[in-house]
Amino acid sequence: MIVYLNGEFLPLEEARIPVLDRGFIFGDGVYEVIPVYDGHLFRLEAHLQRLENSLNSIKLTNPFTQQQLTDILENLVTKNNAGDQSLYLQITRGVSKREHNFPAGIEPTVFIMSNPIETQKPSTGVKAITHNDIRWQYCNIKAISLLPNVLLRNDAIDAGASENILIRDGYVMEGAASNVFIVVDEVAITPPKSQFILPGITRDLILEAMREANLPCREANIPQTQLHYAQEIWVTSSTREILPVTTLDEKIVGTGEPGPIWLKVWKIYQNYKQKLREN
Ligand code: PDD
Repeated sequence: MIVYLNGEFLPLEEARIPVLDRGFIFGDGVYEVIPVYDGHLFRLEAHLQRLENSLNSIKLTNPFTQQQLTDILENLVTKNNAGDQSLYLQITRGVSKREHNFPAGIEPTVFIMSNPIETQKPSTGVKAITHNDIRWQYCNIKAISLLPNVLLRNDAIDAGASENILIRDGYVMEGAASNVFIVVDEVAITPPKSQFILPGITRDLILEAMREANLPCREANIPQTQLHYAQEIWVTSSTREILPVTTLDEKIVGTGEPGPIWLKVWKIYQNYKQKLREN
């Protein structure tokens, strides 16, 4: 696998960063995950815009223009055989003596790698659990400091589940690494954007595609109690696409099978990917 690190393309095994990188010491950085289908980057503009928003929020200037980043990303995709893959891009504040204040005059560290992406088959449904949202109040920043998310996801795995759905003050926020949709009375509902959720690119695409297809959907707060009578629950992300949750906290969701609205939206999503491949 060829990766990009600070101006160079090189094999992963040869990529090195100093231990005093603030990403390593403080988790002081942000990231993006961008799917690639047949060499085509999925919703690149939206990913680059979200990266810019994350960088602004942590007061870090992007060392590249959007065009420069696009060229690097496309170059890396080609070097990794241009097929299906998922790009992980991370920018940290750079290397300096360990002190909390932002150091002056250092260069950000930019690292990009490509990982295989699994072809998603129509899911037979997954289990999820719920948990109090123990994270901080800037969840809209795609920060690399993910310890709470890692612990929460691991709790789900320990419970034999695929995702942990997070509840803050009695309301559904998102998954440990995904956004959440529920279906009530045939309407798909997802929480509105706020500082408490990551504005998912997959989430936005689903809303856009559903509106285009005249399928009822809205952004609204979801009380935790509503989760328990939802006909369908989905978790969405760039790598997992749209996963139907058929068991929540050991109770069956809806009929216990992936729901009809999920199936419609899943098909629309697959068509969207197919069009991107043919571009
Ligand atoms: N995570 N919410 C959180 C907390 C996430 O970590 C993610 C994705 C999402 C979905 O965003 P998107 O649709 O843009 O992928 C929502 C990525 C995939 C990760 O950390 O690996």
